[in-house]
Amino acid sequence: MVVPYKHEPFTDFSLDVNRKALEDSIKQIEADLGKDYPLIIGGERIMTDEKIKVVNPANKKEVIGYVSKANQELAEKAHQIADETFNWWRKTKAQFRADILFRAAAIIRRRKHEFTAHLVKEGGKPWKEADADTAEAIDFLEYYGRQILEIDKGVEINSRPIENNRFHYIPLGVGVVISPWNFLFAIMCGTTVASMVSGNTVLLKPASSTPIIAYKMMEVLEEAGLPAGVINYIPGSGKEVGDYLVDHPRTRFVSFTGSREVGTRIFERASKVQPGQKWLKRTIIEMGGKDTIVVDKESDLELAADAITYSAFGFSGQKCSACSRVVAHEEIYDKLLDKVAARTRESVSYGDPAAHDTYMGPVIDQAAYDKILSYIEIGKKEGKLVTGGKGDDSKGWFIEPTVFADLAPDSRIMQEEIFGPVVGFTKAKSFEEAIDIANNTDYGLTGAVITNNRQNQEKAREDFHVGNLYFNRGCTAAIVGYHPFGGFNMSGTDSKAGGPDYLIHHMQGKTTSEML
Ligand code: SER
Repeated sequence: MVVPYKHEPFTDFSLDVNRKALEDSIKQIEADLGKDYPLIIGGERIMTDEKIKVVNPANKKEVIGYVSKANQELAEKAHQIADETFNWWRKTKAQFRADILFRAAAIIRRRKHEFTAHLVKEGGKPWKEADADTAEAIDFLEYYGRQILEIDKGVEINSRPIENNRFHYIPLGVGVVISPWNFLFAIMCGTTVASMVSGNTVLLKPASSTPIIAYKMMEVLEEAGLPAGVINYIPGSGKEVGDYLVDHPRTRFVSFTGSREVGTRIFERASKVQPGQKWLKRTIIEMGGKDTIVVDKESDLELAADAITYSAFGFSGQKCSACSRVVAHEEIYDKLLDKVAARTRESVSYGDPAAHDTYMGPVIDQAAYDKILSYIEIGKKEGKLVTGGKGDDSKGWFIEPTVFADLAPDSRIMQEEIFGPVVGFTKAKSFEEAIDIANNTDYGLTGAVITNNRQNQEKAREDFHVGNLYFNRGCTAAIVGYHPFGGFNMSGTDSKAGGPDYLIHHMQGKTTSEML
């Protein structure tokens, strides 16, 4: 028996003991930087000559490590091993697989600050964000471990008197997991272990900017009893290794989290039936968002300003759930804008995420930095720059928290995903119009409504078309097992990570019927 699931608490860094613990862990991580990391294929460590250089986005000169890079030949070898391993792994007991996850959660919990410190360095995450990322990784392990035990109980179906009918879920086969850099621990861990605990074998290709945390997770899973060949760690280029694995006729499913551009590419490629392929590939795809906070005229504006500021600038706006649009009723628009601008100037300190009081760190790399700054130039033409707008990439990739006002709902700033610390404001004449504007994007991931009007809240519950809708709070920070997470439309397949039916996407139902 396992105890009921409860999410991992966040660390209170206002306590000296916790602050000191993370400071010490950061120092330890700094002493451990710059190492070489191998691939892991069938349990074997393989060092390649070609390496991915991983740097701290807050300090480009600080090399976190050099990670071996897979090519097509190694990807093929890993695929064959995963395929062979599936033959016996698929028959293992759910409890055996779940126990690996529970042990891994316990190991990470014991060494929590070490992982959090690593995320500060490899992901450029401020303490609070890094701590939440580690907590979420633990949550995925604890939650999916329990979920597979639930699924294993089977589902009741009917039998006629002369029959013995059963229905249960079996795994799919070899899964390719391509994970993002923004929740470098949590989403990477969640998508990988969900695939594995469902009885599949896995080819894990982590994001090229943050592959080291994935290596560290592999070590933890091995310590927790993961047999060789079940998860194979193969960082590499998307074009060379990613496409090869997605196209492979023996790939049974692809689990991807990342950009719309890559997600739609994977969706298209996976839909093509290759010579020798015996199935239609399953895809679990989570892409971007253009997430809106709607603020009604009857609302708590202090709460609204807090919700907007944190949702827009927590982790530099680099969450698919981040608030990048505010639609405010015209009667409170100016007041709200002033409050958000003041909070942004006063409390969104930005700088080195290794310092405990930093609110916002850098953006992930040069490409992100350039893209965000080019959007800021577009914003200056489309609307009014209220605060921020500058960048500095001399040491790391830093961009000021930026607020634009008076944007047209169909402007590029209000339509395109920027994935940085930029939020745009637009005005609505009525609550109904505000919801229409909020729905007027290709995406449908998260949204929030700040209102004290119960009727309007209920209207939004029906009409605001997003996968995760929140009332009187921000639109980020979904908790595993509490807020199943995933979006509509161009946000992805709405597979609801951290929800009760997530694992089923990695499985297929089998009915057996015996005549008695
Ligand atoms: N789960 C994260 C959030 O809700 C996004 O991936 O912010």
